[in-house]
Amino acid sequence: MKKYGFAALFAAMVVAGVAAAWALPMMRAEPARLAILPPVPVPAGNPMGDDKIALGRLLFFDARLSGDGSTSCASCHVPELGWSHSDALARGYPGHRLWRNNPTVLNAAHYKRLMWDGTLDSLEVQARSAMQAPVEGNGKPFMVEMRLRLMPDYVARFRQVFGSEWPQLDDAWRAIAAFERTLVTDPRQVPFDRHLAGDNSALSDAARRGLALFEGKAGCIRCHYGALATDEGFHALGVPRQPLFDANPLVQIAVRWQNRQRDVPSAVYRDQDEDLGRYYQTRDKADIGKFRTPSLRELKYTAPYMHNGIFATLREVVDFFDAGGGEAPNKSPLLKPLGLSDDEKNDLVAFLAALSMEQPLIVAVPALPSMAPLGGVADCAADYGDGIMKGKQ
Ligand code: HEC
Ligand code: HEC
Repeated sequence: MKKYGFAALFAAMVVAGVAAAWALPMMRAEPARLAILPPVPVPAGNPMGDDKIALGRLLFFDARLSGDGSTSCASCHVPELGWSHSDALARGYPGHRLWRNNPTVLNAAHYKRLMWDGTLDSLEVQARSAMQAPVEGNGKPFMVEMRLRLMPDYVARFRQVFGSEWPQLDDAWRAIAAFERTLVTDPRQVPFDRHLAGDNSALSDAARRGLALFEGKAGCIRCHYGALATDEGFHALGVPRQPLFDANPLVQIAVRWQNRQRDVPSAVYRDQDEDLGRYYQTRDKADIGKFRTPSLRELKYTAPYMHNGIFATLREVVDFFDAGGGEAPNKSPLLKPLGLSDDEKNDLVAFLAALSMEQPLIVAVPALPSMAPLGGVADCAADYGDGIMKGKQ
């Protein structure tokens, strides 16, 4: 017995030893790398389909999803402006002004967490929140749903795609999300992706040197890696304050409204008239001023940059990092002055440009369905019952 026990122990030690030897290289930190985008992830609850995508495309461009019919997704995410906007801070619902820069929707389908502070985690939820937030789309759900029901083309399309008698708003967000999942980079059009795929002539000399700086001396790779060129983490860089923040009272109002809306304790927001960033989600003061590391894909088309649109050009961004970032209480220890020469900065910019498609992805504005309330309000409002009278939301 004792002998077998010893043998078993010995065998176990060998197995453990082999396992440890095998695990060792796995545990050693792999150097971070950039990568080609994988196929777009599709959630089980919202499979893709051509008709659904076509419907989502219509809805993305349809301002009638907003309260006063003035604001569509495409008002802020303009295809010709890289599916973002050239304004430093996004416009809002008429009479409002938003406090953040428009990120692009290109490749948004690949993010695990959406928004500059990572508060949302699905395109479906994001679309709903964009169109219903009072400062953004301000569309009262019941009213907007009824509007859709008064457009026969939409009624037919929703019925075909979702099998519902009448358009349901939750299905509208599904269709928009499916459309957004088609707004992704085509790697064949991206010099850097062709380089990764083995095409040695894909990158210019400047972009090659820029890549070496990105991964080496400039240290960008520490936060910008993987297929989207982001760690999807949150960092405070001390990005300079956006002058519009002080110059435009509407921005101040929107920030304060947002603080109230998100139940930020007044002790925190009374002496913080700025964007609290990741703090909104975690309520940890160590997260004040932290923002999600954005993807570096398609930057050629998405200026201006940073959560507050403070930099108009990529060169300004590179100058900022070269100086070691700015001032912030929770500033990342990863930022240090880089001592880049003028040529090196140009090389870095050339590399960043090589992460974009050579031609921008543009989708033509579709002809939108017209309103024709022929079926009668009573019919299409049938499943609301008393809801109409009670102002069902
Ligand atoms: C009034 C301008 C405006 C409108 C209208 C608007 N957006 Fe946005 N969008 C923004 C801004 C600003 C942000 C970033 C907000 C933040 O970080 O808090 C954003 C963020 C997003 C994101 C997240 C991107 C990322 O990098 O995380 C997606 C996706 C998106 N919008 C899609 C849509 C869709 C779909 C619609 C229509 C249903 C829409 N937006 C309507 C301004 C707008
Ligand atoms: C500590 C992590 C970190 C490092 C290191 C880092 N970045 Fe960033 N980068 C971020 C974060 C976070 C943001 C967004 C900050 C904000 O808006 O407040 C950002 C924003 C950017 C943007 C703007 C993108 C947009 O869509 O607005 C560019 C371009 C960029 N970084 C390039 C670089 C380059 C080039 C380097 C190397 C010189 C670098 N980054 C190093 C974390 C980092």
